Amino acid sequence: MKITVESKSGSCAFQCGDNETILYAGLHQGLNLPYECATGTCGTCRARVMSGEVEMRWKEAPGAKKLKPDKGDVLMCQTRALSDCVLRVPSEIATTDNNRPASRRGVIRGIRRLTNDVAHFDLYLGEPMDFEAGQFVVLATGDLSGGRAYSMVNFDNSTAKVAFVMKRKPGGGFSDWLFARKDDEVQVEVFGPLGRAIFRPEEGKNIVCIAGGSGIAGMMSILECATRTGHFRNYKGIVFFGVRALSDAFYLEALARYVTASHGRLQVTIALSHEDAKTPTHPHYPVLRLASGMVHDVAAHAMQGRYENAVVYVAGPPIMVDSAIRALIMGGVPTSDIRYDKFS
Ligand SMILES: Cc1cc2nc3c(=O)[nH]c(=O)nc-3n(C[C@H](O)[C@H](O)[C@H](O)COP(=O)(O)OP(=O)(O)OC[C@H]3O[C@@H](n4cnc5c(N)ncnc54)[C@H](O)[C@@H]3O)c2cc1C
Ligand code: FES
Repeated sequence: MKITVESKSGSCAFQCGDNETILYAGLHQGLNLPYECATGTCGTCRARVMSGEVEMRWKEAPGAKKLKPDKGDVLMCQTRALSDCVLRVPSEIATTDNNRPASRRGVIRGIRRLTNDVAHFDLYLGEPMDFEAGQFVVLATGDLSGGRAYSMVNFDNSTAKVAFVMKRKPGGGFSDWLFARKDDEVQVEVFGPLGRAIFRPEEGKNIVCIAGGSGIAGMMSILECATRTGHFRNYKGIVFFGVRALSDAFYLEALARYVTASHGRLQVTIALSHEDAKTPTHPHYPVLRLASGMVHDVAAHAMQGRYENAVVYVAGPPIMVDSAIRALIMGGVPTSDIRYDKFS
């Protein structure tokens, strides 16, 4: 099917296969169509169908709440084309050759619990993938409808092994499915890499990370990339990692290693929202600081007047991300220096 997209920057066209969503087909062919979650929750990929026939797969998607279906509004990440179509999007569209996302097959192995409700797993890809630190992929299994987004924890060029961390959501389809796996060889469909909350060392900026729970995933990739490229020789890094209690924190050994390797240029604070920090530093990893409070409040308090030449990365539950962004804007950080992923 031929899809024509009219935008503020003119119109462009691309081919879309029977089983592809319009968003994934366009991104794969190098168009920077609007999206954030790529999985039906945010509503950013809204488009209006001007002609042609489409089918929206997940009609109850939370991102569809603000659509006007009678006017032909759809979420491109949930919609496949049944004929040639013309769509209109309320933004500018350009083409890019950078790291186009593609569909691959993968096998999940090495699922291991890090805490009561958090698990680490590795994904072995059929073909290697390039990605930038801070990006994510969408995983899907034949056992469930729809895909789920997970941020890469590791960082490597052209790699066939990618690491992830997943927080169990009570009653959640994918997380319940993964936590219940007894076998250690799970086949999944993978689409990616995706996401614009990316770390680019060449921008020459200090890094501030504010993560809630599994939101630390993409930050681990950013810290790995920054450590490997020697970024902390010239720039500072400040990480706030929010968990409910100290027993919920994970990846502490790796975080302590990054702090030690930075020669004092990287600070990591674990913010405990439901427990008092009994000591100023972690009892087993003294290079990691402890604080009490919600992570966005701890970050806002500690960072007052200290955002100079910084890019701020925020990831985690949507409420936490919204609160952190509000505090950052009130703290004078330009929106162009705030990059976020809402784990909805
Ligand atoms: C950019 C991004 C990065 C993320 N990274 C991580 C991460 O690194 N670690 C982590 O733990 N979580 C991450 N998440 C959250 C993750 O994608 C899941 O939402 C979470 O694991 C809960 O999934 P679930 O299937 O258990 O819950 P569910 O409530 O069953 O599903 C959650 C999400 O799955 C999709 N979905 C559900 N049903 C359907 C359907 N019928 N059709 C189509 N789609 C459907 C929707 O996006 C929905 O919000 C990320 C989310 C985003 C947007
Ligand atoms: S990108 Fe489609 S709803 Fe978020």
